[in-house]
Parts: sequence; C-alpha cells; structure tokens
Amino acid sequence: MARYLAGFMPSGLFARSLIIIIAPMLILQTVIAFVFMERHWQSVTTRLSASVVRDIAGLVDMIETFPQDANFETVSRIARERFDLQVSILPDEELPAPRPKPFFSILDTALSEQLTKRIDKPFWINTLGDSDLLEIRIRLEQGVLRAFVLRSQAYASNTHIFLLWMVGASVVLILIAILFLRNQIRPIQKLAEAAERFGKGQQISDDFKPRGATEVRRATHAFLEMRDRIERALEQRTAMLAGVSHDLRTVLTRFRLQLAFVPKSGEVAALSGDIDDMQSMLEGYLDFARGESGEAATDVNINDVFERFLTEAETLGKRFELSAVGEPVVRVRHSAFSRLMSNLVGNGFRYANKVKVSSRHHGTMLEVDVEDDGTGIPAQNYNDVFKPFFRLDDARNLDSSGTGLGLAIARDIVHTHGGKISLGESELGGLKVSVTIPA
Ligand SMILES: Nc1ncnc2c1ncn2[C@@H]1O[C@H](COP(=O)(O)OP(=O)(O)OP(=O)(O)O)[C@@H](O)[C@H]1O
Ligand SMILES: [Mg+2]
Repeated sequence: MARYLAGFMPSGLFARSLIIIIAPMLILQTVIAFVFMERHWQSVTTRLSASVVRDIAGLVDMIETFPQDANFETVSRIARERFDLQVSILPDEELPAPRPKPFFSILDTALSEQLTKRIDKPFWINTLGDSDLLEIRIRLEQGVLRAFVLRSQAYASNTHIFLLWMVGASVVLILIAILFLRNQIRPIQKLAEAAERFGKGQQISDDFKPRGATEVRRATHAFLEMRDRIERALEQRTAMLAGVSHDLRTVLTRFRLQLAFVPKSGEVAALSGDIDDMQSMLEGYLDFARGESGEAATDVNINDVFERFLTEAETLGKRFELSAVGEPVVRVRHSAFSRLMSNLVGNGFRYANKVKVSSRHHGTMLEVDVEDDGTGIPAQNYNDVFKPFFRLDDARNLDSSGTGLGLAIARDIVHTHGGKISLGESELGGLKVSVTIPA
C-alpha cells in the first residue's frame, strides 16, 4: 500500500513538503465544512423554516376558522404586522406546475419538509433566484394562499461567507507556505548542484556558502570541508609523486650518461633497454599522479581525437575501425579525454589485431565502446584490471612492457567526468570497454 502510494508521490522535496502542508489542511477543512454544514447550517435553517411554516400554519387555521373575514383583510394585516409576511388569497386559482428541484438547496428541502409536516396541504414553493423574497403557495378551499417571506427569515444565510473565509485563508496560507518552502529548499538544491559539480571535477562558484536551516548549513559545512580535504590530499599526492619521479628521472639520466662512456657490449644494451623501460614506467606514474584534475572542460571534436589512431594503427600494422553517431562536438577535458581513449585503444593495439570504436552522442550523454578481437579478460578479473599496477599473468600478455596503470588512469578520468566505465565481451571475440560520460 505504502509502495503503491509512493508511486503517486512527486519525487521533489518541494512538492513533497507542499503536500505535507496542504493535505492535513484540506482534510481539516473538509471535516470542519462537513460538520459545520451538518450541525450548524442545516439545523439552523431547519429551525428557521419551521418557525416560518408555523406562522403560516397559524394563518391557514385563522382563514379556515373565520371564513367570514371579508377579503381576508384581518388575516393579511396580522400577517404583515406580526409575522412580517406578505400574504394574499388568490381565489379561483390553481397551483402552478411544480418547479424542478434545485440540485443543492438546504432551504428548499427544509421548507418542503416542514410544509408537509405542519400543514399537509398541496403547496408550491419558489426559493430560486437572488431576490430577498421567497414565495410559498398553499392550496386551500377558498383559493390559493400566497405568502412572500423574507429569505433571511427562513434561511441561515451569510453562512457561505464562513466558507469563503475558510477557502480564502487557506489560499493565503498555501501562498505563504510556497514562498517559505522555496527559500528553505533553495540551499539544498544549491548544495546538491555543488556536490554534483565537484563530483564531475568542475569548479564550484565562489559565492557558494552555507545558507538556510541549521541542518543544511551543517551539511554544506561538512561538504566544503570534505572538498578542501580531498583537494589537499590530491595536491599532496601530486607533489610527492612529482618529486619522486623527478628525482628518479635525474638518477636515470645520470645512468644513461655514464653508460654512454662504457664500451658497447650485450650487457650494456640490455642495461640501456632497462633504463628505457624505467623511464616509460616513470612517465606512466607521473601521468597517473597528475590525474588531469586541473584541466577545464572545452568543446572537443571527437573525430580529431580518434583520427590519430588511424595513423597509429598503420604504423603498428593493426586494423582500426571507427563509427561516430550524433553531434561530434562534446564538452570534455581535452587532454584527459584523449588519454582515456588512447589508453583503451592502445590496449587494443597491444593485446589484439583489430580495434573497433563506436561512439554515440545524444543529448548530454556520450557513449563510447572500444572493442577488439584479442583474447579478452576473464569476467572474474574485470575489477582487478582497474587496480593500479595489476596485469594479467604474463602467459596471456603478448607484450610484457606496460605498467598496469592504463585502465586505472582511464577509470580515474571517466570518474572525474562524472561518468561510468564497464568491461564486457565483444562480438569481435575480445574485450569490450563501454564508457558513458555526460558531455
Ligand atoms: N584489450 C585487452 N585485451 C586483453 N587484455 C587486456 C586488454 N586491455 C587490458 N587488458 C589486461 O588488463 C591489464 C591491465 O591493463 P592496463 O591498461 O591497466 O595496463 P597495461 O596495458 O598492462 O599497462 P599500461 O599501463 O601501459 O596501460 C593488462 O595487463 C592486460 O592483461
Ligand atoms: Mg594499457
């Protein structure tokens, strides 16, 4: 039941809070209106109608008891002076055809009931219209008695003003609630936006400050502190790794220089090969550490990014296939995005012979699939290969160079763009890497 109701609930906080305010108000008002109608309006009208009908019943009795009263003058005088009723007798007349019952009229119902109960003669009433007078006709032996009654005499009028007040007051209340709620919810929206931007690695505007209710302020404070801590940690990591890499590179350069002075031999060649490997590993660490987090997003044509893989494929003697659907210009961090793609396509070139890239860009989403015809990755290793320095066992790897950082860097880049990366099997037989990023 609760789940069924939840399906109808709006998902936004604003709409939900409004419902929380409006629903009890509506229920309360309905109950009050109902009780009021039932107890007050209806019973007062019934009593007023009863007293009018009682007066008329008295007049009817007088007419029937003293038929000798010429032209019923005394009766109409007494009615006028004592009962505030305008009565006259219309001799030789019949009752008009009965009027259709008004759809909702307490007065009509109450009057009809009282007339039937207290006089019990054929009657005709007209309570419709805006006039201040009601008309009641009763069939007597001498003719038809016609009485004009002040509406206020028979009817608890003005009660609709009470209802108007109630509706008016609730409209004012709802307006105040809307204004107030909007102000309360804006800081929460701002916080959500800021957290989203930070998650995508975008800049948070400087005037973003804790605002609104205490709890929201606290959450904003906590978020800002967390952001500062993360930024500090990133800076420290970058600085440390850059320092280490720099120092090691200096040592490597010295090695290389010293090797140049040693007479050429097989061992020297192997040594300088190792030095080259170390150098490229070092570059990899540096790239990983830098993480491209400082780069700003710009408009990038993805075809430009993919183009250089064609030449790369040619030099490596591999096959490369590309299909790009949708708007080619995407908003990403240029060099990070290029590195992401070259890590994925580079893996394909390294572990397979044919690489196929298919990209689709619709709306704000960019989807890129990189597939190859290699051996692929066993599904149980899908999580491991994203870990830094993880490489599948050497027997599988055709190429023993590489540090095992490529996919870790790729995932990093995808996450700082606020996207997702996942592995699967390709129809070509090898690995399929699917990337989705908002762009
Ligand atoms: N297209 C692929 N086909 C088969 N195995 C792959 C593929 N891509 C990655 N792998 C496996 O996942 C491991 C991790 O890949 P990753 O790109 O992170 O590192 P790497 O390619 O070994 O080194 P590098 O840091 O130079 O990219 C690889 O060692 C390889 O075993
Ligand atoms: Mg790689």
